[in-house]
Amino acid sequence: MKTRITACGNWFLERFPLTKLWNDHMAHYYAPKNFNFWYFFGSLALLVLVNQFITGILLTMNYKPDAKLAFDSVEYIMRDVNWGWLIRYMHSTGASAFFIVIYLHMFRGLIYGSYKQPRELIWIFGMLLFLALMAEAFMGYLLPWGQMSYWGAQVIISLFSAIPFIGDDLSLWIRGDYVVSDATLNRFFAFHVIAVPLVLVMLVFLHIVALHEVGSNNPDGIEIKKIKNKDGIPLDGIPFHPYYTVKDIFGVGVFLIFFATVIFYMPEVGGFFLEADNFIPADPLKTPEHIAPLWYFTPYYAILRAVPDKFAGVIAMFGSIAVLFILPWLDRSPVKSIRYRGAIFKRALFLFVISFFALGYLGTQPATPSATMVARFFTLIYFGFFLLMPIYTRWEKPKPVPKRLTQLSTLDDFIPTLKATLDEVTVKDDHGYTLFGSTEFRRKPNPQGIRNVLIRLAKNLKASLD
Ligand code: HEM
Repeated sequence: MKTRITACGNWFLERFPLTKLWNDHMAHYYAPKNFNFWYFFGSLALLVLVNQFITGILLTMNYKPDAKLAFDSVEYIMRDVNWGWLIRYMHSTGASAFFIVIYLHMFRGLIYGSYKQPRELIWIFGMLLFLALMAEAFMGYLLPWGQMSYWGAQVIISLFSAIPFIGDDLSLWIRGDYVVSDATLNRFFAFHVIAVPLVLVMLVFLHIVALHEVGSNNPDGIEIKKIKNKDGIPLDGIPFHPYYTVKDIFGVGVFLIFFATVIFYMPEVGGFFLEADNFIPADPLKTPEHIAPLWYFTPYYAILRAVPDKFAGVIAMFGSIAVLFILPWLDRSPVKSIRYRGAIFKRALFLFVISFFALGYLGTQPATPSATMVARFFTLIYFGFFLLMPIYTRWEKPKPVPKRLTQLSTLDDFIPTLKATLDEVTVKDDHGYTLFGSTEFRRKPNPQGIRNVLIRLAKNLKASLD
């Protein structure tokens, strides 16, 4: 039996380069050895993508893309389909989790300058993924055909009518009708379940291919490929498998604890993940009192409302995302990581994060005159962070960047430091004897000095192995 399985395996491997693929992208793919917390989110994004695909396929088995049946079919899934509630909550929580993971993933790129040369293309593919993800979430939200699904789509699609000359025709073309209707639901369903997911998979593939071509950045922003040993292996790299597969599995475990807690105990998260108004069937004759998109769109929605003119608001909203595409060319700093940048960048980034959260909050609130004024202020900060970047990143003086990674994590790396520690406390007497533990001239070794050296050695060794 065993030989048969081996024979089958060999037959396959002679025809398909599985071993080569595994080695090139896992076992012999060298990643910087100082990945930290921020490096969990790429693999988590992949996990959430798979979750969305599997739960999405299962939901489609009972969902009806028909304006008359859609709302009830979702209720049917929640109440009558075996485990339907779980599948739906996994999908709805997965959508919000996707954006949390992606925002953290993008933030990592910002703090470590991962978008900078030579990783511009990874960033561009990432931004295209972000756009596709937003389209996917927007169209998916119409499918339950609740009040917020309906009116949210109505508001966003009608934004296109603000475009001069072609606006009205364009929004009519998108809806397929004069108002959001069955035609809109059908086309959004087609895009949500097949067209956009295909684009997402393709872009993830391109994103990873581009990443493996140039290699990962790291928290020090140092190119590990520049210093290799005689076998061509980066001195500061470790094989992705098993080191980072194990690290990522740990991240998956922690993520799943949070994910399951939301699904089982608070699937609506106080209206943030599932809005109360969406449990009421869509009614084209009754506008909800307060229309707001889900939390992940609210910063851009706040920017839209902050601008007095409708068309200018649409431009500002799309501009707030478009500006991220050119980030690699806006940042003129010679260093990548925030660790070696000056105070101006750190403060600018801090203000940007505050403005993003503030806009996110304001987007959930009614647009009162005072809220609009505050939103205008934060919109200026949001754009200021990007548009002034070419100036302040060139101005400030970065700290010197080390040649090698600063986090010493193997014994080999530590040998020079150990030697230096010993040299520091070693003196030679007249007869060439070496004495440890004393910086003053002595004929006999100093027991207290030796003890101190050994304690320091033990501490350093422990730190290097941790
Ligand atoms: C479906 C969405 C996405 C998936 C599945 C995904 C997946 C990944 C994975 C697995 C990695 C390697 C592991 C890691 O560095 O964490 C990675 C790296 C990277 N991603 Fe994404 N990503 C997605 C979206 C994005 C977006 C929206 C951006 C930014 C616009 C982005 C920018 C980057 C960058 C710059 C790197 C290289 C980071 C570095 O080397 O420091 N990704 N991505």
